[in-house]
Amino acid sequence: MIAILSDIHGNWEALQAVLEVCERLRVQRYICLGDVIGYGPDPLAVSRVARERFAISLLGNHEEALITGKHRFNPHAAQAIDWTRAQLKRERELWQWYLERQPFAISDQMLCVHGSIYDPVHDYVDEPENPIEAQQMIETLNRDFSGFDVCFAGHNHTPFLATTVGVIVPHDGHRQFRLPKGHKAYICVGSVGQPRDRDPRASFATLDGEALTFHRVPYDVATTQAKILRAGLNPFLAERLAEGI
Ligand SMILES: [Fe+2]
Repeated sequence: MIAILSDIHGNWEALQAVLEVCERLRVQRYICLGDVIGYGPDPLAVSRVARERFAISLLGNHEEALITGKHRFNPHAAQAIDWTRAQLKRERELWQWYLERQPFAISDQMLCVHGSIYDPVHDYVDEPENPIEAQQMIETLNRDFSGFDVCFAGHNHTPFLATTVGVIVPHDGHRQFRLPKGHKAYICVGSVGQPRDRDPRASFATLDGEALTFHRVPYDVATTQAKILRAGLNPFLAERLAEGI
């Protein structure tokens, strides 16, 4: 079984809760789709886990901003990435590890990106909201998914599955789907450390053969919020965690 995680964003409590579930499920391999850091108060702890345990950990837009200093972030995100850089630069091995992150990985008909197939670092896979967007998604899957069948994506902090027959949003009554070989699909795994679908629980996915499962895991949000405030990061970054926005 593979676990696909994304957008941990320096949230140690959320990552620990997710890893506990993964250990119970006997996950053998971890893939992280980027944004290990940024926004959250525990960049060192989550980076050590990513470096030691994840088979793949991609370059997200926050990793890019971390190492290049270039971004178009709002002031809260910009302050957080500057604070994060100051922490990580003190740990040479971790800093070097970040310099080596790659924007995508491809294997076994599976493309992994942070953003989308068109721009693996910055572009967002948007959930289709009307029939025209739904048709565009189907065209994308049929026309541009060449050399791979499924694409795991993060960045939008919202879990959903887009296939050529439609879009499915997982919920507590329906979390497991079959991905038959050769079928095209975008799989957005949501965010471990800063979900934005109005469900504050940590989100991730597992793949076991053809079985794709979306998971939600409650964690100690209050502890993470207290750490954000103690670090002097913007209070909005704490508030949003409780609401899942
Ligand atoms: Fe993110």
